[in-house]
Amino acid sequence: MASIPTSLTITRPDDWHLHLRDGAALAAVLPYSAAQFGRAIVMPNLKPPITTAAQALAYRDRILAGLPEAGPGSDFQPLMTLYLTDSTAPDEVSAARAAGVVALKLYPAGATTNSDAGVTDIRKTYRTLEAMQREGLLLLVHGEVTDPEVDLFDREAVFIERVMQPLRRDFPELKVVFEHITTLQAAQYVSACDAHTAATITAHHLLFNRNALFVGGLRPHYYCLPVLKREAHRLALVQAATSGSARFFLGSDSAPHAAALKEQSVCGAGCFTAPAALELYAEAFDAAGALDKLEAFASFNGPDFYSLPRNHGQVRLHREPWTLPETLPFGDATIKPLCAGETLNWRLQAA
Ligand code: DOR
Ligand code: ZN
Repeated sequence: MASIPTSLTITRPDDWHLHLRDGAALAAVLPYSAAQFGRAIVMPNLKPPITTAAQALAYRDRILAGLPEAGPGSDFQPLMTLYLTDSTAPDEVSAARAAGVVALKLYPAGATTNSDAGVTDIRKTYRTLEAMQREGLLLLVHGEVTDPEVDLFDREAVFIERVMQPLRRDFPELKVVFEHITTLQAAQYVSACDAHTAATITAHHLLFNRNALFVGGLRPHYYCLPVLKREAHRLALVQAATSGSARFFLGSDSAPHAAALKEQSVCGAGCFTAPAALELYAEAFDAAGALDKLEAFASFNGPDFYSLPRNHGQVRLHREPWTLPETLPFGDATIKPLCAGETLNWRLQAA
């Protein structure tokens, strides 16, 4: 019988999909990600959204100012993105590239938190997508249609037909990340694409199916978008993440919302996983008997797809039960991490 591993050392990972917010919320959540990851792709859905290179540079400065001056986390690198709108000018793409912005994010208008300024019809962005393809910027996609006629649980699958397939046909050289995939259809679609298409997968979509939203009552902290799906989809995501395919990689989609705003009659979408992001992935890979596949998923496949160097340095996870706090400070408010008060089996060793 194989012995149970008690520790796991991997190359320092990156988070290829992260919400850091701004102001006091940024100050509260940034240290968790900086302690775990070398870099993170920072989502631009602030209020107002980050739509210009100048705004991205200013936001980057605010993030860097929130890092410790020395020691663990001080070398964390935020990788900036712009929020694509119907009116993003092709010239903004060159300015973005010059400013070190690596990607633009497509939010279908109304699909999720702070997406009102998103794209109403992808054809309106075609000149900008052409510029991105030319300049080598990536397109990051929130892959859900917003058509109210389409059942909420089917919106990702329908997005593949209505948006991804035409997009891939019209911009074959554009690198596209299908973000936070949640379905068997998306996993199969990305697997069947060529090397210009990849996907991120969150820890919560690897760990939970939609039952988690309703165990013993309505559980707002498990509500995110795209929403958790049924078990067959979770299994397909685990299979994709642990398959060894280089086109699936870590994107936590940690999306902090104050506890008081989650626990009310209308609750915003987002799971706050940053305090235990890597540990939650380790739980999922361990449950699948695939801890040996975690390093490529967390530390190699992302930088390889983005054409960035892999990180130097390593992090070590220990098999050591610990309990996530019930709440954490969040500016003047508090926030509940996903799995608050629950025990995890893996713990990241402090650097
Ligand atoms: O659950 C989500 N939360 N999904 C998103 O697409 C946005 C995010 C947020 O910003 O809170
Ligand atoms: Zn997100």
